[in-house]
Amino acid sequence: MLGHHHKVVLVGDGAVGSSFAFSLLQTTQEIDELVIVDLKKEKATGESLDLQDITPLTSPVNIHAGDYSDAKDADVVVITAGVPRKPGETRLDLVNKNTKILSTIVTPIVESGFNGIFVVSSNPVDILTTVTQQLSGFPKHRVIGTGTSLDTARLNVVLSEKLNVPVNEIDALVLGEHGDTSFGAFDEATINGKPLKEVTNLTSEDYSELEEAVKNRGSEIIAGKGATFYGVAKYLAYIVKAIIENRNVMLPVSAPLTNQYGINDLYLGMPAVINRTGIERVVDYGLSDTEVEKLKLSAAKMKEVLDGVEF
Ligand code: 2OP
Repeated sequence: MLGHHHKVVLVGDGAVGSSFAFSLLQTTQEIDELVIVDLKKEKATGESLDLQDITPLTSPVNIHAGDYSDAKDADVVVITAGVPRKPGETRLDLVNKNTKILSTIVTPIVESGFNGIFVVSSNPVDILTTVTQQLSGFPKHRVIGTGTSLDTARLNVVLSEKLNVPVNEIDALVLGEHGDTSFGAFDEATINGKPLKEVTNLTSEDYSELEEAVKNRGSEIIAGKGATFYGVAKYLAYIVKAIIENRNVMLPVSAPLTNQYGINDLYLGMPAVINRTGIERVVDYGLSDTEVEKLKLSAAKMKEVLDGVEF
């Protein structure tokens, strides 16, 4: 599907959007054009000029402000637009506001003739990814959300601190909702390839504490600096790079469930392989029975929220 000219359209030039653009340009060699769309056109223009100034040290990229019609021949449209969480708000509190904003974006983009892949990070991300797929009518594998990629990073960071093991030696996923019903897949987690459960003596209280630390981390960051952006922006850039460069990376993202564990019609944090086709496949991670129960709880919560969403 991807031609030789690799084009990305970013919708939403807030802190997440601009950090994403900054990271993408530094890590992705094969991008030719980056279009920035924001209601504040002057902000998008200023951003483009600022980002152009890094291109002598990256690769030549045509960076400019634009509008939804620029999606016509884009490979990827990244949506970060929406109101962010304020201190004390949950991601689910944002659902109606951000669904409204999303529908004003997805419809004109589809009307432009866009035939690529949507990548969504606006919150609540699993719900908004599901809504993007429904509004666009796109095949499910061409809509991806950042999901629990960030929560997974956070779990690896807190585990690294707790166990005093370098973070890159830990492989422990967080799955389910990017939010309060997420859970750590500790039964499959490894350290240097060895089962976490064999090489550590963490107790179930430790697991709960680690999960709580992961869940609270976004709020902790918001309490401190007012917003979270580098983390999610980096995973967004990683996903877009995997698409543009066809890299077949496995990452937990908001992935479409099509009867895995009896769950349907919903995006939820699950490991998936990402390449130029979008979600190449959702990985069967061999979840244990207790983890399947947790995933089903997350799904039930998401369904309840989706049923109440108007769009
Ligand atoms: C985060 O977890 C707020 O979803 C955002 O950093």
